[in-house]
Amino acid sequence: MNSFNDFKLLCGNAMQLLQQMHEQFDMIFADPPYFISGGGKTIRGNRVIVANFGEWDKIRPDKEKDEFNYQWLSLCRERLKDNGTIWVSGTFHNIYSVARCMTDLGYKILNVITWQKVDPPPSLTGTRFNFSAEFIIWAAKSDKSKYYLNFDLMTQLNGGKQMPDVWKLPSVGSWEKRCGKHPTQKPLRLLYRIILASTRQGDTILDPFAGSCTTGIAANLLGRNFIGIDQCQEYLDYGIRRRKEIEEPVMAQKIFRKMSENPDEVMVMVNHCRKETKQLMIDKSICYLRAGDSKGSLLVTPGFERMQYVLLHTGGEDCHLFRLKTKGHFQIWTKETLEKYGFHPEHAPYYVVLHFDNSKEIEIPKQPNLKQKINTYRAKIRPLSDFLGLN
Ligand SMILES: C[S@@+](CC[C@H](N)C(=O)[O-])C[C@H]1O[C@@H](n2cnc3c(N)ncnc32)[C@H](O)[C@@H]1O
Repeated sequence: MNSFNDFKLLCGNAMQLLQQMHEQFDMIFADPPYFISGGGKTIRGNRVIVANFGEWDKIRPDKEKDEFNYQWLSLCRERLKDNGTIWVSGTFHNIYSVARCMTDLGYKILNVITWQKVDPPPSLTGTRFNFSAEFIIWAAKSDKSKYYLNFDLMTQLNGGKQMPDVWKLPSVGSWEKRCGKHPTQKPLRLLYRIILASTRQGDTILDPFAGSCTTGIAANLLGRNFIGIDQCQEYLDYGIRRRKEIEEPVMAQKIFRKMSENPDEVMVMVNHCRKETKQLMIDKSICYLRAGDSKGSLLVTPGFERMQYVLLHTGGEDCHLFRLKTKGHFQIWTKETLEKYGFHPEHAPYYVVLHFDNSKEIEIPKQPNLKQKINTYRAKIRPLSDFLGLN
């Protein structure tokens, strides 16, 4: 139904289409109906709306929810490779039913991720705590599965500390809705982390409730293949438009950049220096950069306080990445102090100084393109994900 080899869509009832499929998947992400549409009110943007997402999401008795969840989870299990994993999202309305069905079917629950929304809409009634989280169950096909988790990459994305099971991420942004407004669209940032955590490049991912195909867009941007099912052609058309949008390299890069950043993102101070100075910096575990432009003011890009790494390079070549001793910490040193450490700073009376750990250089699998970015007086801060291999 569209012309992309890495992006296939099927329109129809997941219960029937899953039975007709023969593929085996490395990973499944499912965002099934939560069964919450019943005329209650909620806030979208700055408007109060009636929470009625569609017939598919209408509140149902527990028994019906269980039957529905059991059926699609059972069919998905048949389509999952023995070492594959499945992620299922929900709120308290459906997630206990999902968890029960998964356990009954033989899945092995690995984690329950709490997606803590950093920007939840306010409660309208003031009679309950603000709903600010969703849950995502991550499970292997069975307790014998040798499933895949890119633990090191997750640790790096979390600034060197183990990635916890609470993920603070914003809700879906307006920049993700340019191609159509799905009422319950998931943010690309969530799928980015899920896909990086549990798949390798070239893997194939299934989403049986694909909607506007957020999973497929994140998958393709990360070099994974995608098959999506949805019963609603209009939603799949949003997905096709989104997929066409990322055919354009500049747009793909823009979306990739946004998808891979988050409010807690770990940042890197990128510093250009001469080859000899760079070696001395590494020997002394000190990176310095000029504090100020010709008028003496320090210009920094947002994210300075989240800086946890330093990257030293010479004109875009020969890059070295190290972790700072203290996150977001810097000192202002005089030229004279730097000279005491053997440096020969020439241009300014004051310098920003960062202390890093030189005992463990961090591998940079992807050679970054830094050429155009040298010779400005702005402290250059870039997300760590720009430098890490995301395979
Ligand atoms: C929660 S939404 C998924 C949104 C999606 N994650 C996104 O980011 O756009 C659930 C989707 O499941 C679809 N759906 C519900 N029941 C279905 C069924 N039995 N078969 C196929 N699709 C179904 C709905 O049309 C809806 O688009």
